[in-house]
Amino acid sequence: MEKTELLYSGKAKDMFLTDTPGVLWVTYKDQATALNGKRKVQIQGKGALNRQISGLLFEELTAAGIPTHFIKDLDDHTMLVRQCEMIPLEAVVRNLASGSFERKFHTAHLMKLTPAVHEFYYKSDALDDPFINDEQIKALGYADTATLAAIHELADRVNALLQKRFAGIGIALVDFKLEFGRLANGTLVLADELSPDNMRLVDEATGKSLDKDVFRKDAGPLTPVYQVVLDRLKGVAHV
Ligand code: C5P
Repeated sequence: MEKTELLYSGKAKDMFLTDTPGVLWVTYKDQATALNGKRKVQIQGKGALNRQISGLLFEELTAAGIPTHFIKDLDDHTMLVRQCEMIPLEAVVRNLASGSFERKFHTAHLMKLTPAVHEFYYKSDALDDPFINDEQIKALGYADTATLAAIHELADRVNALLQKRFAGIGIALVDFKLEFGRLANGTLVLADELSPDNMRLVDEATGKSLDKDVFRKDAGPLTPVYQVVLDRLKGVAHV
């Protein structure tokens, strides 16, 4: 398998076509960004950690019956995924109030949200990823009723699986962002990545953040925190 032309260069990943049609080569970058890319820092080792965490979670979700774009890990920074037509939405699921939700509604930090809150944001750097509701999504043609229902259902299933998985290693899943795409045969799949860049994780014992909030809040080095998440997921005993 060889990568060929660069298809897309994002803030955290580069995607290349390969010599196999329908298969993309994804390289996770050693870079962290905040404020929609306005703050950008190189962080050695971050890409490999996110690739490993993402690959492990995609594998587990696939085994649990969630359709995903994941094929296999290739090397330290690289995984192979199935090429999708991406739906230009970020689906956010919140179990506990934090981040923009806490700021918007002035809630207590980590207030339990019942039911879990689903939000969509339209993916557009130029527009700063604005909030978008279900009717706006349909009226603008980004997804139809059936697709939205399928996304809501998949988001709930992923939430249940991830919440249970993280609870088992002493971590509360506060919130996370998912992206979906369609394979050439029309199948809706979970795509993008599943890493602490895209989810908030709180250590239940210490209350400390184990995710990108450490970078957003300039609260210390990021890679040791991501390493804790990976080690716990892998069952490494010393953490
Ligand atoms: O900032 P906010 O509270 O809206 O983020 C909710 C969740 O979505 C967080 O886990 C955050 O990491 C994730 N997110 C993301 N990409 C964005 C915006 C939010 O992964 N562009």
